[in-house]
Amino acid sequence: MKTFDEILATFKQALADMPLDRQPASLYEPVRYELSLGGKRIRPVLMLMAYNLYRDDIEAILPVALGLETYHNYTLLHDDVMDRADMRRGKPTVHKVWNENVAILSGDSMLVLAYKLISQTDDRHLRPVLDIFTETALEIGEGQQYDLEFETRIDVTEEEYIEMIRLKTSVLLACALKLGATLADAPAEDADLLYRFGENLGLAFQLQDDLLDVYGDPATFGKNIGGDILEGKKTFMLINALRLADDKQRAELQHWLATPVDLDNIGAAGCTPKGCSRAEKIAAVTELYNQIGVRQLAEERIERYFEAAFECLDNLNVATDSKQHLRIFALSLMGRKY
Ligand code: IPE
Ligand code: IPE
Ligand code: MG
Ligand code: MG
Ligand code: MG
Repeated sequence: MKTFDEILATFKQALADMPLDRQPASLYEPVRYELSLGGKRIRPVLMLMAYNLYRDDIEAILPVALGLETYHNYTLLHDDVMDRADMRRGKPTVHKVWNENVAILSGDSMLVLAYKLISQTDDRHLRPVLDIFTETALEIGEGQQYDLEFETRIDVTEEEYIEMIRLKTSVLLACALKLGATLADAPAEDADLLYRFGENLGLAFQLQDDLLDVYGDPATFGKNIGGDILEGKKTFMLINALRLADDKQRAELQHWLATPVDLDNIGAAGCTPKGCSRAEKIAAVTELYNQIGVRQLAEERIERYFEAAFECLDNLNVATDSKQHLRIFALSLMGRKY
């Protein structure tokens, strides 16, 4: 059994060695840029760890792991255009360094590259692997569409939000684990339990992401703080703030949600005819979150999903010792700051 650090090192080396020497270079330069920006690499590592529960030769499935990470990075290129995000992993986003057309086309090519890599699976596993991955990729598009549609709605329920983040985020973590199990010929019950472990881990992970988007440190988080507030994202915190606010707080929150932002005005305060500054809107909504106490509520919910994830791991029918690496990895995600 390999440790998390060993698996991560193996994956990073494979990524560094991945050839991307096609032409035109201008199409692949943004692909290289995105893939080399860093990132936690949790999806490929989860996949390799699940496989390693049953088999030792993780090198055999490295192309699939590379495909998953390439796919994830493709979603980020397009997500940053949709979310008008300027920063990712501490660096300007692809559409800022180049432009939106580049982000669309290089992103599309990454999706195709991902399929090319994932298809480098032996014939016996190819059909189930493609089925699992393709279903997941469709679900992610569905989750991203809900995420966008919720921006212009005020009546999104917590249930709708949870289903949206399950689709846009959880299913990829779950898919990674299930692919690892499937490629290792694990029993179907194990593959399903690992899927559910990933699903719960993913729900906790996206709730954390939403929390860090408000309360994180931009230097560590690598993304601009307050992006979700500016885009009107219906997060767990916003949904619950609207639900738990008193009449005055709710009116204030609704006022700020309806206030346009002048994206060119990055000053500390003050309004222009185009709207208020980014900082002003973020500070006002954050202050309301603090007053209403939604941070703690989110933290409690994150904890619950982690617990549900650990329960799935407990039920997994492999030796307790072998599960330790996955448990330690999940524990390390609990207090994540980036
Ligand atoms: C970012 O994913 C998108 C979300 C699902 C929140 P990660 O937080 O895994 O991003 P990187 O790959 O580590 O940068
Ligand atoms: C990301 O959700 C989900 C996908 C990329 C599929 P977010 O929009 O919250 O992710 P970040 O915060 O930009 O990383
Ligand atoms: Mg985003
Ligand atoms: Mg998004
Ligand atoms: Mg986010």
